Amino acid sequence: MRLVDVAKPRTRALLQFDREAVAKLDLAAVKADLKALMTDSQDWWPADWGHYGPLFVRQAWHCAGSYRTSDGRGGCDGGRQRFDPERSWDDNTNLNRAKTLLWPIKQKYGAGLSWGDLIILAGDVAISSMGGPVLGFCGGRIDDLDGYESLPLGPSPEQEALMPCPVQGDCKSPLGQNTLGLIYVNPEGPMGKPVPEESAPQIRAVFGRMGMDDAETVALIGGGHAFGKAHGACPSGPGPSPAEQPEAPWPGTCGDGKGNNTFTSGFEGPWTTTPTAWGNQYFQNLLDYNWEVHVGPGGHHQWRPKAKDAQSKAPPPGVMMLTTDVALLHDPDYLELVKTYAANLTALEFKFKHAWYKLVTRDMGPVTRCLGPDVPPPQPFQAPLPPPPPGPAPDYAALARDIARALRRPSPAAEPDTVGGKPYYGALFATLAWQCASSYRETDYAGGCNGARIRFAPQKDWPENAYMDSVLAVLEPLKAAHAGTTLSTADLIVLAGTVALQQALAEAEAEQQQAPGCNRGGGKGLLQLQGSTCTASGVRLRFCGGRVDAPEGEHAAQVQPPRVLANKILQVRDNARVMGLSMREAVALAARPRSPSQQRRLGYSGSWTHTPSHLSNQYFKVLLDETWLRTNSSEGLEEFAAAGGTGLFMTPTDLAIKWDAEMLAIAQEFATDNKAFLQTFASAWSGLMNADRFDGPDGNVCE
Ligand code: HEM
Repeated sequence: MRLVDVAKPRTRALLQFDREAVAKLDLAAVKADLKALMTDSQDWWPADWGHYGPLFVRQAWHCAGSYRTSDGRGGCDGGRQRFDPERSWDDNTNLNRAKTLLWPIKQKYGAGLSWGDLIILAGDVAISSMGGPVLGFCGGRIDDLDGYESLPLGPSPEQEALMPCPVQGDCKSPLGQNTLGLIYVNPEGPMGKPVPEESAPQIRAVFGRMGMDDAETVALIGGGHAFGKAHGACPSGPGPSPAEQPEAPWPGTCGDGKGNNTFTSGFEGPWTTTPTAWGNQYFQNLLDYNWEVHVGPGGHHQWRPKAKDAQSKAPPPGVMMLTTDVALLHDPDYLELVKTYAANLTALEFKFKHAWYKLVTRDMGPVTRCLGPDVPPPQPFQAPLPPPPPGPAPDYAALARDIARALRRPSPAAEPDTVGGKPYYGALFATLAWQCASSYRETDYAGGCNGARIRFAPQKDWPENAYMDSVLAVLEPLKAAHAGTTLSTADLIVLAGTVALQQALAEAEAEQQQAPGCNRGGGKGLLQLQGSTCTASGVRLRFCGGRVDAPEGEHAAQVQPPRVLANKILQVRDNARVMGLSMREAVALAARPRSPSQQRRLGYSGSWTHTPSHLSNQYFKVLLDETWLRTNSSEGLEEFAAAGGTGLFMTPTDLAIKWDAEMLAIAQEFATDNKAFLQTFASAWSGLMNADRFDGPDGNVCE
């Protein structure tokens, strides 16, 4: 069995993306068509109360709500709710019908309107057509061709291998939901037990894993359940899912299975007396009555209202609550928010529209990726970067020369490595650039070096970033010569790592006495590094300037610490996938020179190389030729020592490259072909350094 498929390259989904068509899309016309669709009830799937709005709100929420902060996976970008595993989740029962309703609109607008955008926009139009508040619309979702990127959401062998859930109903992070197949939690209560006070902590935990705080959570649940109803006309269930019966999924087993006979979740009834109109009645209902548990017509525990006492008002007939709704009364912080929203519609509207926009947009990355006329101003969750400071662009070539000189110049700021008896900072500069840029996640376009958030907490305090502040202090003085320009620390970090590697490449080739022969060229915005770096292989690293620095404290939490998995093979493979690297790129980048002094600071006994001033395929020769003995460093970290007392050490993630058949094949190729290695390394390095450069008017400025 193949547990985790080979990582696809960064451009996986762009094939489907037609930026010109998106730019030409008449969004106002799409919205008008969607609004008309809302009340155009079809006999084959009649709209409750003649309005499809609640169905489209639920669809958008379930498409976006699969997002989790742990690895940035999930969300509606990709439109993968159309594919297994997501389409067959219990929570997505009958959402195939919502897509059939949308198909004429999808067909009409074609490539300019992705399924991902259409699903979210339909949710937005549904809310506003029922009188609810909407902040705006960030367009530009790119449809995936299949459900591959959702396999780690489960249930799937990939999810079992990467992030198992030993107790269904109590799944932990990195999974977002606590029950596989549901978006968040079991509506009936923990493990189906209708105990609201035990449900509240679960709600907080899972909404937290999606980056939502209490105020957002309560506004979303109650704002969402202002609309629509639960469907559970009888206890016999919805019938087989699309995975089980693709030709006629979810036929419904109560009567004719539609309209009043619909079975979706198995609960039955609306939350309010005005289910197609926006308002805060949900919160008032929660507070105004006592809620009593019973078994509804669908066979599940649900709650019905009772008058508080003989004098108080009688409850409206037919309304209901889920255990997860009643849970909001059983937590003091949630209860306060329920009271606020019940008393203050304006407060609810403000919080709901911002939380909804965050919910449906969070997986889209920086605001510069949002397309269309309705994009609101940058929101905090988008970690907006400031404009560059005023001034001319720096002379990057001159700065590169300054950095080249700093490689071997002693600095009081940080202890260098020693190569040939002399100080050497190159491997530390490369490590700093790697640590800064490798926080990038292709899954939600977050992280990366732009903004240089590695300078601030929490990133600077991650164990793997130990000493990086000192290494940066070696570089900072170089900025003085470029004062008055737009030079950012982020650019300085990336350029320093890139110059160091280019020099290391040249030195390794000079050592092997290969004749120089240069090969020029390059892409938009890319600087070919010049000077003494002309190499025999003709391989040149590229640099694309223009990064800016984020101010301290601004949205730092958007960047997530690297995940550590017990299975190192899976960790290497999955990290590559999250970063958007192909397996070849990830294997090549593993061969970056690693500073022996830094490895010791991290708790290992040393590095795989004594000459971190060389960039070549030596890493693969060492990995494949040495005999590695498993041991523990004096700090108690698992590591591998080369037999024969050579003083070379590798980490478990290095050895994983040898243990995995496909990565081994790549390593073997690189070990025998230095040029192939260098070419792959160079393109992977510049690809990763620039992966977060969504700051141009037309996509990535560096591509
Ligand atoms: C319906 C559970 C949060 C919007 C439902 C249904 C359940 C449910 C069981 C009934 C589905 C059916 O039988 O048709 C939950 C749980 C939540 C949650 C457990 C979190 C603790 C939300 C949020 C939103 C939302 C955050 C949107 C902001 C809706 C809407 C419906 C619905 C609009 C009505 C669908 C229709 O009328 O067809 N929810 N929900 N829910 N939910 Fe939620």
